[in-house]
Amino acid sequence: MQTVTLSNGVVMPRIGYGTWKTPSGEVAASAVAYALTHGYRHVDTAACYGNEEGVGEGIRRSGLKREEIFLTSKLWNADRGYESALAAFEQSLARLGTDYLDLYLIHWPANHTQFENWEQINLDSWRAMTELYRAGRIRAIGVSNFHPKHLAALLKTEVPPMVNQIELHPGFLQQSVVEFSRANGMAVEAWSPLGMGAMLQHPLICRIAEECGRSAAQVCLRFGLQRGYTVLPKSVTPARIEENLRLYDFSLSEEQMAAIASLPICGESGWDPDTVSF
Ligand code: A2P
Repeated sequence: MQTVTLSNGVVMPRIGYGTWKTPSGEVAASAVAYALTHGYRHVDTAACYGNEEGVGEGIRRSGLKREEIFLTSKLWNADRGYESALAAFEQSLARLGTDYLDLYLIHWPANHTQFENWEQINLDSWRAMTELYRAGRIRAIGVSNFHPKHLAALLKTEVPPMVNQIELHPGFLQQSVVEFSRANGMAVEAWSPLGMGAMLQHPLICRIAEECGRSAAQVCLRFGLQRGYTVLPKSVTPARIEENLRLYDFSLSEEQMAAIASLPICGESGWDPDTVSF
């Protein structure tokens, strides 16, 4: 599997197994174990997904060594700030049953519609992340859903973010966020790379899938890989879990890439990080 080397030298697999909306308990445990025993080596979860225990159980059930897996979790919005972030990190580790994370992300920026001192709140969370990183408890740190305006203050700190995980799929390219993140040393990860499933019925994606003899999901994911993102498809269905990993034995032509990239905005969540209320 292709990997990306983060700005601090840590190597991250470019296909990650997404778990947003995966119920905890047995569903998460068996899906994660299935993904890991069928080739995934990168698992993406978050405190707010409510499934860290199940994800941890799935990792143990896979029989793989912890160090063979790249594991990401995220700091939830209710835990922003220095002390709360430190405590939330320990709670995530306890639920996952591990003693370190490969990547820890601030899930959403505090924004100006929520707090007057939004920038300071993000900096306080970041100070906790930086301390945990320096102590070797996290191998890489980053953010999620941050726009350039939210990144500005963090980029002036001693340890700038190494990853920005954002909503990215054929109908929602966020090109200015991608370019700014890359120009500032961050690897870009795509959440909901299938547009929460909405892109799978799009006529252009379906036409290209037919041309390639592939599924619409594989076209969306291959598009993400060729654009240079790390893609995090979520599925709890065994056949789809495997299908979403079979991306290296075909490619999209320049014409197909250009046609997808010129789609008008569609299938996006509508959550603008600068104005959401959570
Ligand atoms: P399920 O988990 O029931 O298999 P995204 O990653 O963009 O948020 O999309 C996730 C949604 O897409 C889930 O509803 C998931 O369903 C569905 N999905 C994931 N992979 C595939 C696939 N290969 N074919 C069809 N639907 C898929």
